[in-house]
Amino acid sequence: MSERSGMSASPAHASAVNPGERAGTSGAALLQIRDLHVKVGEQRVLRGVSLTVHAGEVHAIMGPNGSGKSTLAHVLAGRPGYEIVSGSATFEGHDLFSLEPEERARAGLFLGFQYPVEIPGVNNAYLLKAAVNAARRARELPELDAFEFLALVKERMGRMHIDESFLSRGVNEGFSGGEKKRNEILQLLVLEPKLALLDETDSGLDIDALKLVAEGVNSMRAPDRAIVLVTHYQRLLDHVVPDQVHVLARGRIALSGDRTLALELERRGYDWVSEAAA
Ligand SMILES: Nc1ncnc2c1ncn2[C@@H]1O[C@H](COP(=O)(O)OP(=O)(O)OP(=O)(O)O)[C@@H](O)[C@H]1O
Ligand SMILES: [Mg+2]
Repeated sequence: MSERSGMSASPAHASAVNPGERAGTSGAALLQIRDLHVKVGEQRVLRGVSLTVHAGEVHAIMGPNGSGKSTLAHVLAGRPGYEIVSGSATFEGHDLFSLEPEERARAGLFLGFQYPVEIPGVNNAYLLKAAVNAARRARELPELDAFEFLALVKERMGRMHIDESFLSRGVNEGFSGGEKKRNEILQLLVLEPKLALLDETDSGLDIDALKLVAEGVNSMRAPDRAIVLVTHYQRLLDHVVPDQVHVLARGRIALSGDRTLALELERRGYDWVSEAAA
């Protein structure tokens, strides 16, 4: 890690020795990424990402546009189109990359997309019920019948202030930007994954919706669950206080720190981080 020798500019709260790999204070390592290099086409987008997320923790990943945050989330979720050049990722000790995307989901990994997809013609309730029962089968829990599912989903929809009419609409079909993001959190609340990766779930939300989303995320905090928030804005982190904040710059985690790092980034921007990482 000699390329990080120029980190003298880093503040006292931030750790540049092994950014992303600070020893956890909470539960077991849920997600462990080691020296991950990923290409998209000819471009090497991730250049040695290492990150450890323990159960019970909330991590925030920040960083300039185009630095590879969504790429990292997509690669972990198993979205096609990315070439894993080297490195590893384990989820509860299992090699994540040997699992199909649906196996990763069944194992308890959830990705909230920066740009949630619309699936016209596929009923929102149908998709949610199929997903929740697939997750329950994987956990060897009995499936929910229609009544149990409706009771669960209506309670969660109430929390997210989503109108029940959304159940019968196509997945995200015609949803406004903010409605799509709230629908992502609804999926999260219903599926109760072990690890949630939320890619800019706060972008485009009005102030009330941001609070709802934050409350939804906070309600998911649990000793056996971890949450990774990709965000550009400190304001989400006012509501969902992260245990660790990481800066992804130029395809690697250049700096990690506590919540005060996000405040510092808000004040100073990213130039100092990028320069230090280079
Ligand atoms: N399918 C693709 N084809 C070509 N280039 C891609 C593709 N996907 C990602 N990239 C490139 O990889 C780099 C990282 O993109 P990524 O979406 O991961 O950034 P990001 O950190 O999420 O940015 P933002 O903050 O703007 O969401 C960008 O330069 C982007 O153009
Ligand atoms: Mg992105």
